[in-house]
Amino acid sequence: MGGMIKALGAAIFYARFARPFSRLGFKRRVGDAGLQADFSGQRWLVTGATGGIGRAIALGAAARGATVLAFARDARKLAALESEARGPGKVVPVAVDLSLMHDIRRAAAQVAGEGAIDVLVHNVGVMCHEFARTAEGVEQGLATNLLGHWVLDGALREGGALTAGSAIISMSSGGMYGAALDLAVLEAADAGTHDGFLAYAQHKRAQVALTHYWNRQGPGAPRAWVMHPGWVDTDGVRTALPGFRKLFRALLRNAGEGADTALWLAATRPATGEGIWLDRHRDDEHAFGFTRQGAADEALVAWLEQRALGAAGRRG
Ligand SMILES: NC(=O)c1ccc[n+]([C@@H]2O[C@H](COP(=O)([O-])OP(=O)(O)OC[C@H]3O[C@@H](n4cnc5c(N)ncnc54)[C@H](OP(=O)(O)O)[C@@H]3O)[C@@H](O)[C@H]2O)c1
Repeated sequence: MGGMIKALGAAIFYARFARPFSRLGFKRRVGDAGLQADFSGQRWLVTGATGGIGRAIALGAAARGATVLAFARDARKLAALESEARGPGKVVPVAVDLSLMHDIRRAAAQVAGEGAIDVLVHNVGVMCHEFARTAEGVEQGLATNLLGHWVLDGALREGGALTAGSAIISMSSGGMYGAALDLAVLEAADAGTHDGFLAYAQHKRAQVALTHYWNRQGPGAPRAWVMHPGWVDTDGVRTALPGFRKLFRALLRNAGEGADTALWLAATRPATGEGIWLDRHRDDEHAFGFTRQGAADEALVAWLEQRALGAAGRRG
């Protein structure tokens, strides 16, 4: 019975979103519009910058004049990205494990000491089907997709690198449309209760809640937007969703199409931070009524603060 309900839910989801999330959706809403933007003199920080969508954002921003601090783990991929960047801007590699809070704090302190960030893109995200904990005791997906974003953001604010002029763009996923924010599902206690797909949807829903929370921090705080890229053919999809990729391959977007709205948001900075952005348009963050019943943004923030403290304690 449970399996049937899940299958029905998936069928409703795909029927509703296959067109707008595919490359047909990009073609319809953005098409050949191009993006005339000049990011000269701006300092960007892009997480998960060596692969898929993050890589396209980093290269797109550098090509329009930005200096892009590229955060990712693999030094070889970072060096390749640096040499591939075409000016007038450039890519500056920063090797960091974004699932480890102490490493995030180290890297944030390093870059905050060197000046303000104009655009911060919380792009890193992974779908972890296997349950594993980091050395700090945090479930790997939660650490990478959400807790790390919260800790990076906080460390940059504390270091004075995020100011009223900064823009924060979070890369959520259309998967969040199927989830009401439920703090109990953000992190499973063990492998038996872990469902990587559901946890990912929760992390992505939580990114929307965090964005709204950040936008309520008043004057002097940076402004934030949350977006999703549609369905993009990346290593992440190849690894985590091989069946989905096989089924929809002909309809998947390329990384540049997935990255487009992040660059557009940074260039246009729309007046409202409400909703979720796709293909340069603001959509409602709820497609189904039940997702409106989720936990409050403030409850999420309190939960993240506690969880970050726990991770720090574990390391010590
Ligand atoms: N692709 C899609 O269809 C799709 C749809 C909806 C939402 N999204 C979201 O878009 C974002 C990018 O997805 P993608 O498909 O482009 O991902 P991807 O191809 O898997 O690339 C992931 C990037 O993140 C880095 N990374 C992973 N774990 C890391 C860690 N612990 N520390 C530092 N860097 C790490 C990887 O570099 P290293 O391994 O070298 O560190 C790589 O640069 C994610 O948030 C994803 O949830 C994607």
